[in-house]
Amino acid sequence: MLQVRNLFVGYGDATAIWDISLEVAEGTIVTVIGPNGAGKSTMINAIAGILPSRSGNVQMLGTDLSNVPSYQYCDHGIAIIPEGRRLFVGMTVEENLEMGCYRLAARELRDESLRDVYQRFPILNQKRNQLAGELSGGQQQMVAIGRALMARPRLMLFDEPSLGLAPLIVNNVFDIIRDIRLEGVSVLLVEQNVRQSMNIADSAYVLEHGHIVASGEPSELLAQDHIQKAYLGL
Ligand SMILES: Nc1ncnc2c1ncn2[C@@H]1O[C@H](COP(=O)(O)OP(=O)(O)OP(=O)(O)O)[C@@H](O)[C@H]1O
Ligand SMILES: [Mg+2]
Repeated sequence: MLQVRNLFVGYGDATAIWDISLEVAEGTIVTVIGPNGAGKSTMINAIAGILPSRSGNVQMLGTDLSNVPSYQYCDHGIAIIPEGRRLFVGMTVEENLEMGCYRLAARELRDESLRDVYQRFPILNQKRNQLAGELSGGQQQMVAIGRALMARPRLMLFDEPSLGLAPLIVNNVFDIIRDIRLEGVSVLLVEQNVRQSMNIADSAYVLEHGHIVASGEPSELLAQDHIQKAYLGL
């Protein structure tokens, strides 16, 4: 479904992502784990077209996205839930959700999509006219996920969705991601929460200092010495 080939991304003279290749097969959850500053957001923002890449390319369902502007990525089935959620805090829950379906094809399905999101997250239905900035962290994450779902994506890119949330709410977010995959949407999940993201993933990559240093099945990676020491504190 998604193929990233030999991607290099940087800021000014500095290169933050070096020669990254990865793949998300249809209907799977792929996770990329890595510490603070490893380049996770840089990578995912480049895949989402928000940041330009220096070289390499991203293909979605066989289409090269190199010359596709970022606002058209949703037409190719890609939606991102950015780090820190990036909601419009002064707008209502429903207005935020509607920002997810601004493209014509998605706008035609607005009512149906909104109904689906409210069915998935009944609390958002109750709070539809409340300002997004007044919601709890977990509820704000639901708005960010709901906003992405409004575009009816085939692939969702999650940038550290568990960040800053209480443990119980984190469990809830991982359950939501699992449900989304069961419904046929593929997922690329960038996380520092190694245990839980490995637990729901079909395959995983380890990103350190802008390089992929390991990849494979989560169970294999979790058995490696380096992963146990650096990420699991064993
Ligand atoms: N806007 C920017 N300008 C210059 N350098 C940046 C910028 N954003 C990130 N960097 C640098 O790029 C590298 C990768 O940062 P990035 O934010 O992608 O890491 P990350 O893995 O997402 O970290 P975190 O877990 O803290 O979110 C870091 O060295 C960071 O300092
Ligand atoms: Mg980040």
